[in-house]
Amino acid sequence: MRTVETVTEVRAALRPLRGTRSVGLVPTMGAFHEGHLSLLRAARAENDVVVVSLFVNPTQFGPGEDFAVYPRDPERDAALAAEAGVDLLFVPAAAEMYPEGFQTWVEVEELARGMEGDARPGHFRGVATVCLKLFNIVRPDRAYFGQKDAQQAALVEQLVRDLDLELEIRVLPTVRDVDGLAFSSRNAGLSPEQRRAALALPRALRAGEDAYREGAHPDAVARVVLAGEPGVEPDYVQVARLNGRLVLAAAVRVGRTRLIDNVVLEGDLP
Ligand code: PAJ
Repeated sequence: MRTVETVTEVRAALRPLRGTRSVGLVPTMGAFHEGHLSLLRAARAENDVVVVSLFVNPTQFGPGEDFAVYPRDPERDAALAAEAGVDLLFVPAAAEMYPEGFQTWVEVEELARGMEGDARPGHFRGVATVCLKLFNIVRPDRAYFGQKDAQQAALVEQLVRDLDLELEIRVLPTVRDVDGLAFSSRNAGLSPEQRRAALALPRALRAGEDAYREGAHPDAVARVVLAGEPGVEPDYVQVARLNGRLVLAAAVRVGRTRLIDNVVLEGDLP
């Protein structure tokens, strides 16, 4: 595996392979867990060349959010990426992605509203912009995203459709720990007691999913389950249609940690 820090190096490394080898890209912010690793494995299985970007993208964090304290462990990430068979690890500095004078932004309109878009103003503008930049830098045949961030995955699919980008977006299922909690870099911020309380989130979504199958309101049922756990403060619990997939999605706060999760009620992952 090669690690590079500049756009020029990524382009030079990929140039000889263009046209003959398929390229898979996994965009990440690092602090790898099993969710990331499932994307790396899928990319490895489906492409000749696997590129992973590791960039804690400042423009998708609002003021007062956790950018400064976002977990970072680049050496461990590099070792895990190498082990997963990644060919090229792109670790740009902020100034490489947003040089002085940067002023062009991508706004996906409708899909950036509601849920995470409302809770985190400007978040999806940062996500859409960095994803388009990464797609232009790497020019992958396929890019890999997790259903864990359901609104993000749908927004990226929309971006690709709207701007006629020539790549396939692969959305892979949410990977959960044995206790049911979806893997997230932010889980590292939970104390053991908070982690126990946080399990109400997947429990609520599962109860909502069961209720939906029986014809009841999934969001109402999920809210009742969350209300039974005093350590968990719900932000939103909502049924949403995201690019043809009907999901029950929720965000909660456990102490200072904000967690999101969802279950697909209807509609296959592409
Ligand atoms: P990050 O949070 O590092 O996530 C990278 C990818 O891993 C995303 O596509 C996310 O949906 C996926 N992922 C996270 N947890 C997962 C889980 N438990 N199961 C399956 N997939 C999971 O999402 C971002 O970074 C950024 O917004 C990014 C797309 C890189 C743009 O900056």
